[in-house]
Amino acid sequence: MQKTERWGSRIGVILAVMGSAIGLGNFLRFPGLAAKYEGGAFMIPYFIALLLLGLPIAWLEWSMGRYGGDKGYHSSPGIFRSLWKWKGSPYFGFLGLLVPVGIYMYYVFIEALCLYYAYLYLVNGLPEFNALAGGQPFTNLFANTTGSAADGSLFQHAHPILLFLFICYALNTGIIFKGLSKGIEIVTRIAIPLLFICAVIVLIRVLTLGTPDPTHFPDRNVLNGLGYMWNPEPRHMTFMESLLNAEMWMEAAGQVFFSLSVGFGVIITYSSYVRRNEDVVLSGTTSAAGNIFAEVALGGLITIPAAFIFLGSSGISDSTFALGFLTLPQVFQAMPLGHFFGFIWFFLLFLAAITSSLSMLQPAIAFFEEGLGMERKASVTFLGLITVLGTGFVAYFSHDNKGLDYMDFWVGTFAIYLLALLQVVVGAWVFGAEKAVDEANRGSLLKLPRWVAWIWRFVSPAFLIFVFVLWIQQKLEEKIDLFQSDVTMRLTVTFLVLLSVFFLILISTAMRRWQRQEKEDL
Ligand code: ALA
Repeated sequence: MQKTERWGSRIGVILAVMGSAIGLGNFLRFPGLAAKYEGGAFMIPYFIALLLLGLPIAWLEWSMGRYGGDKGYHSSPGIFRSLWKWKGSPYFGFLGLLVPVGIYMYYVFIEALCLYYAYLYLVNGLPEFNALAGGQPFTNLFANTTGSAADGSLFQHAHPILLFLFICYALNTGIIFKGLSKGIEIVTRIAIPLLFICAVIVLIRVLTLGTPDPTHFPDRNVLNGLGYMWNPEPRHMTFMESLLNAEMWMEAAGQVFFSLSVGFGVIITYSSYVRRNEDVVLSGTTSAAGNIFAEVALGGLITIPAAFIFLGSSGISDSTFALGFLTLPQVFQAMPLGHFFGFIWFFLLFLAAITSSLSMLQPAIAFFEEGLGMERKASVTFLGLITVLGTGFVAYFSHDNKGLDYMDFWVGTFAIYLLALLQVVVGAWVFGAEKAVDEANRGSLLKLPRWVAWIWRFVSPAFLIFVFVLWIQQKLEEKIDLFQSDVTMRLTVTFLVLLSVFFLILISTAMRRWQRQEKEDL
């Protein structure tokens, strides 16, 4: 058995979970989805999903994670083994490896983009910032940097983004190598306060913009920008039509999970390193609250209002991650001290990204060490090799950013959704919802009420299954058509299936090892 790692302090674990939760999801994905579903209409399924799925499942994960940690396990396959006394249970934990590792593969690419843009602002401003005024000046820069013109273009011209990708890999690997309290905890202790400071600076700037363009007075002002984000008035369909769209509900739930790092395999692993009587309810609630604040009050108030004020509703890109890279540089170009705010914005995104990407590595590291008996050096190298394959895939299949978008859908929405459902079923029905409430309340100042068990048992699974069935009904055909017609889609799905099979094989090896150990212990 490996030496058990622990968090250094309670504030350390709260900041680490907050660091995992606050990420590109808060500042790019959330406003991007809100723009896609035309603002306020999206907020309804979003808040419902937050209350009925996000928060309750976060508490459940904290409770299950601490229980598993107490039994000596820190990875989903191991924790499932401790919660569910059936021989095959660890196999279900493969999703707890696939989701964080799969997301890391493309997430680190966007992290590198943030670092690259921050660097460009710092040294001289974005290239086209200087050369062009007005129009759509940043489209080319974004297209070149993501290689969206053709597959393989980033490699053909050895684009500098590859160097930034290498830097991000080196940073993530170096920090994870140091471990929990000496690596992740120290980094998040510095990064999270710094991130909040940067976000508040940009927020104040945006909220004091007034109506900077007199030719659009009084329409393009801050209040209308906020209205665009928050008023439930879809512009291309009626409010009711919008609410009946199952994909919006699924994406809203997916966003809540993505953002809170719930259904990610991350919280369950992070919470397995807390002490036996640590207050998981308070820690879980505090970190979730910090994340919701960063998403709604910072992410939601900066990106879309700023874009609206300068570009109007037609200038707001609804591509999930493009909003921050295409639209906001135009905004910074048009504002005084734009260089400075551009740097702060992209640096803040980078900080948010790295504290999240680190958390995506820990579940697999924990598994390789406790399941396969690897030392830290071997586990970090092994995971590095696996993730490079996926990041290489995303960087290579860059035409129209398809590799990235498909990975984000299949892992970042679909697989997260399945993992959240699996966790709530295992936690509430197999382990036992009442037992999980008792487990969560052990050592907690803030007690979960008993009706939370009822939410876990009935409301969350019913909600997840209902939306999933509706989604299949409305969208499956479209996805099958896309699968048949688009080779990148086929390759993405094939890649993810192979990765899943690989994890299942590793889990069977780990199971034999655990059984052997148990026999020896008897
Ligand atoms: N929870 C992380 C985010 O929001 C992954 O980006």
